[in-house]
Amino acid sequence: MINWQDSRDFFCSQFQAEPEICCFAPGRVNLIGEHIDYAGGQVLPLSISLGVTLAVRLTAEGGLRVASSLYPGQGVASLEETGRQGPVAYLRELVRITGCLSAEIAICSDLPPGRGLSSSAAVGIAVQAALLALLEEDVLPSARAVCRAAQRAEHTALGTHCGLMDQYASLFGRETEALLIDTWQQTHEYIPLSGLEGCSLLLVDSGQSRELADSEYNTRQAELQEALRLAAEALGGFTCFRERTLEQLLEVAEGLPAPLDSRLRHVATEQQRVLDFSAALQGGNAKGMGCLLIASHSSMRDDCEVSTPQIDRLVDMLCNLPPCLGARLVGGGFGGGVLALLRGSPDPASLDDLLGKYHAATGLQGDWQQLQSGHGACLLAGKGSWRSLAEWLS
Ligand code: GLA
Repeated sequence: MINWQDSRDFFCSQFQAEPEICCFAPGRVNLIGEHIDYAGGQVLPLSISLGVTLAVRLTAEGGLRVASSLYPGQGVASLEETGRQGPVAYLRELVRITGCLSAEIAICSDLPPGRGLSSSAAVGIAVQAALLALLEEDVLPSARAVCRAAQRAEHTALGTHCGLMDQYASLFGRETEALLIDTWQQTHEYIPLSGLEGCSLLLVDSGQSRELADSEYNTRQAELQEALRLAAEALGGFTCFRERTLEQLLEVAEGLPAPLDSRLRHVATEQQRVLDFSAALQGGNAKGMGCLLIASHSSMRDDCEVSTPQIDRLVDMLCNLPPCLGARLVGGGFGGGVLALLRGSPDPASLDDLLGKYHAATGLQGDWQQLQSGHGACLLAGKGSWRSLAEWLS
C-alpha cells in the first residue's frame, strides 16, 4: 500500500499544491469462481495489501488534470484531450459520474499491471470515492452503486464487459476475511482467512501479456450468456442458473452445440467449486482447497478456454513442486498470472529454479510474489487515520 505521505508528495511534485484528500483502493485476488461473476454466480475473492492511492484537490477552474506514477515521464494530462475509449476516457467517465467539473488527481499504484490483480477496478472505486468525499453532496450513492458505476465505466470506456467482482472486492474487502459474493443478489458474506493458516498464496506472473484479453474476454462472456439462455429455455426458464441443480445443468450441456456445451459445463461446475472451496476454507482443509484450484484450472483450460499453453505449463510445473497444494490461472485469462497455494512459506531458491526451467521451455520471463490480504478501500485523512468506504457509504 502506498502511504498517505508518498501519495501527497507525488501530488505536490506534479501540481505544486497540497491535495485535499487521499483515497486508497486495493487490488484483489480471486481464490475461486472465475468467469461466472457476469452470469450471476458466486465468487470468492479477497482484497490484497497492494493497490491504488489517489491524492485529489478540487479546483475552481482548469478542468480535470491527472498525473500517474505509472507513466512517470508523462507529467500532467488533461482529461479533455482524448477519444471515447481508453484509460483517459475511463477516468473522464468516472469523474463525470460524480458530477465534478474541475479537479487535480494524482494516481500512485503498487499493483503490478496485467497480472490479474485488477488495477482498473481499484482506480474506478478510488476516483469516485475521493471526489464524492470532496463534493460533499447531501445524498451519497450506496457502496454498491459506486461498484456498479465503476463496472459500467469499464464497459463503456474500456470496452470490457466485466462482472462486478473486482469492484466489489476492492470496496468491501477486509484484511482477515475473504468475500463470498453473490453476484446475482449483489450481497456478500465474509469467510475468515484463518483456514489458510500455515499456507501462503503466491501470484506467479507468466510473463505473457494479455494483449487479446479484452476482445477474447468479451467473446467468452457472450458465449457463456448464450449457453445460459439456451439452458433456461431447456429447463422451463430461470432468472439465475443457480435455481437449477448441477446435474440438471450438466444434462442440458450434453445437448448443446460446441462450444456452448463446455461453456455451460464451466459455469455449473465452477459455481459448485466455489461452494466447496468456501466449505474447505471454513474447515481449514488446505488439501481440499488445493484440489479445487487444480480442478478450476482444468475447467478454465478445457471448458472455458481462457488459458494458454504457456500458462498450462506453468500451472503443471507449480503443481509438481512438493509444497504446492494447487494452482490455477487467475483473473480474466489469456495471459497474466497464476495463483498458487503453498503449504508453509515459499522457498525462493526452488521458485527461481522453477522459473528458470519455465523460461527455458517457453522463452517467457516469469516472476513471483507472495500475496498478503489487506483492508478494503478507504479515505486517508492524514498520518495513519483512515475511514472505510464500505462503512462511510453504507
Ligand atoms: C476480470 C473481470 C471480472 C471477472 C474475471 C474473471 O477480472 O473484471 O469481472 O469476470 O475477469 O473471473
